[in-house]
Amino acid sequence: MQLIQLPQADSTNLWAKQNIERLLPAGVVWTTDQTAGRGRLGRDWTNSPGDGLFLSAVVSGPFAQPATLPLFAALAVQRAITGEFGPLDLQVKWPNDLILNGKKLVGILCEGTARGLVCGIGTNLRQDRAYFDRLDLPHGTSLALEGLPVDDGTAARLAARYAAHLTGPDADRWKAEGLAPFLAEYRACCVNLGRTVTFDGGSGTCVQIDEEGRLIVATDSGEQCVFTGEVSVKGIYEQLSAR
Ligand code: BTN
Repeated sequence: MQLIQLPQADSTNLWAKQNIERLLPAGVVWTTDQTAGRGRLGRDWTNSPGDGLFLSAVVSGPFAQPATLPLFAALAVQRAITGEFGPLDLQVKWPNDLILNGKKLVGILCEGTARGLVCGIGTNLRQDRAYFDRLDLPHGTSLALEGLPVDDGTAARLAARYAAHLTGPDADRWKAEGLAPFLAEYRACCVNLGRTVTFDGGSGTCVQIDEEGRLIVATDSGEQCVFTGEVSVKGIYEQLSAR
């Protein structure tokens, strides 16, 4: 497994796609200075040099259930961060945001290529509150802001942990069997279950995450199945801050 650190990158997802030969069959590239990061739904993922971990993992097929990579990756990150810092109030907002103490800590962007899947993970390490205020991100947070001990080695240690989860035996199991072996654990840490979700096309109570990784929402017009991809699920931060 390749684990490549770059002093700077435009986007580690882009770098991984352009240099996929160097990362196949399984490899990881990371930096703490990403100048043109990309997020879901066409958004930017903003840089703050030295304060974030920007990492992309390449995973090659065959895959039993490729569309569930975002959910598997979220669980991998959850395990890696709690492995580093111990038990935390770290939940998953479906499909793949990591929420620490009710605020977004990690975003994940998975992309398909002809040679494999690229899983990009942005982790906020030590941005301060002023950083999130400047970007008008009231629901954003970093590990340091939540009182966790972040030092100059944190990025490298987390990168190694992410790499182990995303390219190790668990990843082999996910590739062969899909989400099924991880579903109970995913459901247990998914913040949306039992709560109101608003999505493009409706709103209702999230009653289940099914075997395909879809959100099952009970709406006034019956149960609806919400897929990952270009879907935004809203309203959870307001519910969390009210609890
Ligand atoms: C989101 O919108 O929540 C997903 C953000 C994903 C950001 C990560 S940082 C590493 C990788 N490189 C990118 O350009 N994006 C992803």
